[in-house]
Formats: sequence, structure tokens, C-alpha cells
Amino acid sequence: MKIKELLLMDTEAKKNRAASRPAGIHALVLKLHPHKIYDKLSKFYGNQRNNAINRLWAKQEYVLSQKKNFTEDFLQKNSHIGEIEHQVGRYLHMQHICNEIILKGYSGDIVEFGTWRGLGLIFFGDLFGKDSQKRKFIGIDSFEGLPISSGGWKQGTFNNTSMELARSNIEKYFQKTPIHFELIKGWFNDAKVKEQLTGLTNDIILVHFDADLGVSTSDALKLITPYLLKRHKPIYFLFDDWGCHPDEVPDAFYRWLESAQTTIKFKAKKLSSTRFTRYYRLDFES
Ligand SMILES: C[S@@+](CC[C@H](N)C(=O)[O-])C[C@H]1O[C@@H](n2cnc3c(N)ncnc32)[C@H](O)[C@@H]1O
Repeated sequence: MKIKELLLMDTEAKKNRAASRPAGIHALVLKLHPHKIYDKLSKFYGNQRNNAINRLWAKQEYVLSQKKNFTEDFLQKNSHIGEIEHQVGRYLHMQHICNEIILKGYSGDIVEFGTWRGLGLIFFGDLFGKDSQKRKFIGIDSFEGLPISSGGWKQGTFNNTSMELARSNIEKYFQKTPIHFELIKGWFNDAKVKEQLTGLTNDIILVHFDADLGVSTSDALKLITPYLLKRHKPIYFLFDDWGCHPDEVPDAFYRWLESAQTTIKFKAKKLSSTRFTRYYRLDFES
């Protein structure tokens, strides 16, 4: 069949389709001013494009490959894209805190509750630079995903990992200058996890709470409380998933704060936040 004939058939088909559309749609299209149609189409294609960018930025390898772009300027220009706002925003705030720890000369290890495939620990190992050689980076995770369903989260989400995968991701990233990292496999409320953590460190300077759920955050806070007794130097508490699903993480922190402050004298100072993170420094009375 010739091209012209094909085009003719296509025009006929379009006419038939148009004739069979409900009158309301014709009316709507006629009512719309060309610039409104343009706006609607741009919005539609803009959303499609942003969704595709979000999907890319949800991949750990992609995030790490973009690290050279992690600047305030890049963040400002892309803050309307959720995953960029999250990953770049949290990295820059982590950077600020790691620099403060280095400048003040605070000793101590880094503990992460919720390690999944290792991205958080990689960020910290990277941000401490040379200083990372003095520290241990400890990641605790069931490596079986979330323990329960709650507030939109489903039990088992994030089970698409393993301790071996997280280990190999971290080793691969720090191939040239290895860092001292340890992974603990287990549930935060398991006595064996507490035993292992106690065996690994008696000096923690920064805790990354990245376990999504209120119950998990409460269990993590319980594990950390003994490290705050008789403390003089500050400790940094970095919460991910802040306000992400019906306020589970903020509620867990505020509940813990109320009870911990009855026995330990400290103040919690909010340092920074993004849409889904909030970072604090806890200052103790000396
Ligand atoms: C969002 S992922 C962590 C993401 C990671 N920190 C990153 O930066 O890419 C949350 C992790 O928390 C773990 N998790 C949640 N609750 C837990 C609990 N009570 N005990 C052990 N692991 C838990 C899950 O297995 C999951 O791997």
C-alpha cells in the first residue's frame, strides 16, 4: 500500500474516532485556549519526565555515579524532583555534620540502623574522608526487610538485599582506601544485636536512624540510650523517613526524648531538615 493511501486511511480513522467522542470532550477542547492546552501538555510531559528521573535516582548505583553533582546549586535547581531533593539534600546535610565532627575533633564510631544495600554507610565513609580511618562504620539490619506492615509500609519491604550484597557494595566503593566497617544481621530488639553492638563499640558519635518505622526507631533508640549515660561530648542523631508515613518516626523520637530527659540531662538541637529527614545534635550538661 502506498504512503498516501495509508495517510488517507489514518485521516479517515481520526475523523471517525473524533465523531464518536462524547460531546463534552469536544466542548472542553474548544473551550481551552491554546496556551492552556500547551500548559496541560507540558505539565503532563513534565510529570512523566520527573517520574523517570525519580526512578533513576532511586537506584543506589546511579546516586553514587552522580556524586560530583552534589552541590547546593544542583539541589536548588532540582529540588522539585523528590529523589534528588532526598539524596542530595541529605548528603549535603550529612557533610555539614561530618565536617563539624572532624573540626571539633570528636572521636567515635558511626552506627546506622537500617543499612539495606549500604548507601548510607558509603555516604558517611566518603564524607569523613581521611578521618574515616580513625572510626568504625557499623550497619545493623535484619537484611530481611521491614518487620511489620504499618502506616503504608508493607512487611518485608527492602528484603531485596542481603548482608553479602551490602558488604560487597561497601567494599567495592572503598576498594582503593578501605574503611573499617562491620555489619550486624538481626532485629534491633534482639538481645544478640545489643551484645554484638556493645562488643564492637563503646564510643558512638553519630547515629543514622533509617529504618522507616516508628517501632524500629523506638527499638534503635533503646539500644543507643546506654551510650548516653555519663556523656559529655555531643552525639548526632540523624533521622531519615521523618514524617514520611503518618509521623511514626517523629512520634518515636519525641516519646523517647520525653522519657530519656527525665534521667539524662541534655538538650536536642535541630540542625537541619529536608522533606523526609531531620538531623539533631544532643548536647549534654557537663
Ligand atoms: C530504607 S532501608 C535503609 C536504607 C539505607 N540506609 C540507605 O541509605 O539506602 C530500611 C532498612 O531498615 C531495616 N529495618 C527496618 N526495621 C528493622 C528492625 N526492626 N530490625 C532490623 N532491621 C530493620 C530494613 O530491613 C531495611 O533494610
